[in-house]
This record gives sequence, structure tokens and C-alpha cells, in this order.
Amino acid sequence: MEKTKIGLIGLGTVGSGVAQILLDHGDRTARQAGRVLWLEKAAVRDPKKPRGCDVPDGVLTDDIDAVVADPSIDVVAELMGGVERAREVVLALLNSGKDVVTANKALIAAHGPELFDAARAAGRTIAFEAAVAGGIPIIANLSQCLSANQVESLTGILNGTCNFILSKMHREGAPYADVLAEAQRLGYAEADPAMDVDGTDTAQKLAILAHLAFGARPDWRAIPRTGIDTLDLADVKMAQELGYTIKLLGVAELTAKGLQLSVGPTLVKNGNPMADVSGPMNAVRITADAVGELFLQGPGAGQMPTASAVVADLIDTAVGRTRLTFQTLKLWSAESDRTPVADP
Ligand code: NAP
Ligand code: HSE
Repeated sequence: MEKTKIGLIGLGTVGSGVAQILLDHGDRTARQAGRVLWLEKAAVRDPKKPRGCDVPDGVLTDDIDAVVADPSIDVVAELMGGVERAREVVLALLNSGKDVVTANKALIAAHGPELFDAARAAGRTIAFEAAVAGGIPIIANLSQCLSANQVESLTGILNGTCNFILSKMHREGAPYADVLAEAQRLGYAEADPAMDVDGTDTAQKLAILAHLAFGARPDWRAIPRTGIDTLDLADVKMAQELGYTIKLLGVAELTAKGLQLSVGPTLVKNGNPMADVSGPMNAVRITADAVGELFLQGPGAGQMPTASAVVADLIDTAVGRTRLTFQTLKLWSAESDRTPVADP
């Protein structure tokens, strides 16, 4: 059977999950891709660090350039996180003729136009299903399954860490700081968890979804946002007494003035399906002119749900589906812009 050689940049929470699927379930990926997805190299900072998966000898390297320069590697998943170094790495990968898969929403939100222009110029692709809402196939839904629609509104719980914290505060009366520490231990939080709790991560994901759903190009920094870092148990208790659950929501709504965007803790009436989304879960409600209303729910953070999305992207890239979809959509180019962003 033909082989597609895969490189990984990063073998932390998500990267180890991806390696585990590639190494333990080669039969599954081969069936889906019609070819073997072969883990050729994985770059990390410290190759001596214990990994959550059994990596064969010779795969680990502390030299990212060894992955970039390896002519046998076809597709590379960038799973190192951060923005500026990740940007340099992704540009180098594209320019060396490799297709890229990434889970890095901060990178796409900050440098989407430059990266997608570079990919088009190099005749390569970037797939990013894992960058928003973890295991929920929201990118595929917006870019493919809902393409007959004009999306009218999109509301999401887009950060698993915040939803985990809020759920534990509501259900167990657990203190905010203790649950945040637990979310970090469980691998849900960003390297800098302030990005989760101050609403940054949700704003970055909302900006990406706004581009796919509405053809808008918001600057995530300009999206009005409040995090959950100012909430305490008294706020949660008060909401409960009134019959509400607090959720950190990202909202995008098409109005006569353009696309209105916001991120903030919101009182959701108990009984609304959004109020029941619990733990490190995400949910997205979409209203659109042809399909009506959709509610997608699933794991929004964590090792294997995120790895599930990354490996699906690796398969789609290896078989050419990514190219087919994103070639026509021309993401983050003037051709894909169709909706202005309204003033906050
Ligand atoms: P992580 O556990 O901190 O792993 C980062 C990995 O990248 C580590 O293996 C690290 O090497 C490696 N790395 C970092 N800088 C490097 C450098 N300069 N050179 C070589 N290797 C480097 O992070 P993660 O949680 O897996 O997240 C990775 C990406 O996925 C981020 O963009 C994040 O936003 C995104 N994401 C995460 C989740 C989640 O639930 N965790 C969900 C969706 C998306 P060492 O291991 O040697 O330190
Ligand atoms: N830190 C992010 C979250 C990871 O908690 O949602 C998934 O993007």
C-alpha cells in the first residue's frame, strides 16, 4: 500500500494523541485514506521528556528544521502552539512543499491571511478542523455541509476550560482557582491559561468561525470580550437561584449594519440545551436560511477529541479532500470577503 509520510511539530497533549492514533490504529487510517499514514518524524523541545505514547526509535528530534527539510515528508501537523515561532515554522513548511494541518487557533486568528496566501502561492494546503471546538466537526460543517445556506447567527461555547470551570462551580460549588488548576492538569487549558479565562481563546475561535460562516474578516482583538476570570461563586449562586446557568458565549449575528460579534459570560435560562452543556464540552448553535436551526455539541478540549480532528485533517489532506474544499473557498483572500463587521 502507498505511504504518506507524516511529520509532527509538537508531541505534547495533542501531538501525543495524534501519534497514538497513527501508531495504534494504522489499519483504521489506512482504510479511510487508502494509504498508510506513516509517522516519520516528531519535533519537540526536549526529546528526553517522557511521552504519553510509545514513539519508535529515530522518530523524535529536537530539530524542527529536520522535519522541514525532510523531502520524504508530505504532510506536517503543527501542534507546538504559540504564534510567532509557529508562524515561521508553518511558512517554512509550506515553502518546502508540505501541506500543513494545525490545531492552533491563535496562529490562524493572527496570521490567517498571510498563511493562506503563502499556501496558495506554494500550491499547498492548510487544514485546521482542530483549531475550533475540538472534536466537533464545525469547520467541515461550515465550509462544506452548510454551503447552500446564508448563516444568520452563530452562538457557541467555544472554550472547554471555561465550560469545565463553570460546570464545576455550578454543580459542585468548587472554587474557581482549584478548577482552573484541574483543567491545566487534564490538558484542557492553553500553555498560558489566561488566554482561556479572559476570553481571548473564544474571541480567536469566533473570528475564525465568522470568516467561514459569514465571509467576514474580524480582527479578534477588536471583538468586545469579557472572560470568566472576574466571576466568583457568589455570581454562580445568584444565577442558580434565578434559574439560570452562566456560560461563556461567543456570539456572531448578522444585522443590517454588518456582523455583530461579542464574547462574554451570559445567563442562559435552564432548560435551554446550551445550559446543559457540561464539563470540557463545546456547543455551537447555528441559524441559517435553508437548514433552519442546528445545535452541535461535543468535546471541545482534551487530548483524544482534538487528536481525532487532527488525524481526520491528515487523512483529508493525504487523499486531496482538503485541496478540493479550500481551493474553491479561497479563505482569507479578498475573494472570500462578503460581510462587513459592524462597529461594536
Ligand atoms: P503542549 O502540551 O504544551 O505541547 C506542545 C508541544 O510542542 C510539546 O511537545 C513541546 O515540546 C513542543 N514545542 C513547543 N515549542 C517548541 C519548539 N520551539 N521546538 C520544538 N518543539 C516545541 O500543547 P497542546 O495542549 O498539545 O497544544 C498544542 C496546540 O493545540 C496549541 O496550538 C493549542 O492551542 C492547540 N489545541 C489544544 C487543545 C487541548 O485540548 N490541549 C485543543 C485544541 C487545540 P516538549 O514536549 O519537549 O516541551
Ligand atoms: N484551551 C482550549 C480550550 C483548548 O479549553 O477550549 C481547545 O481549543
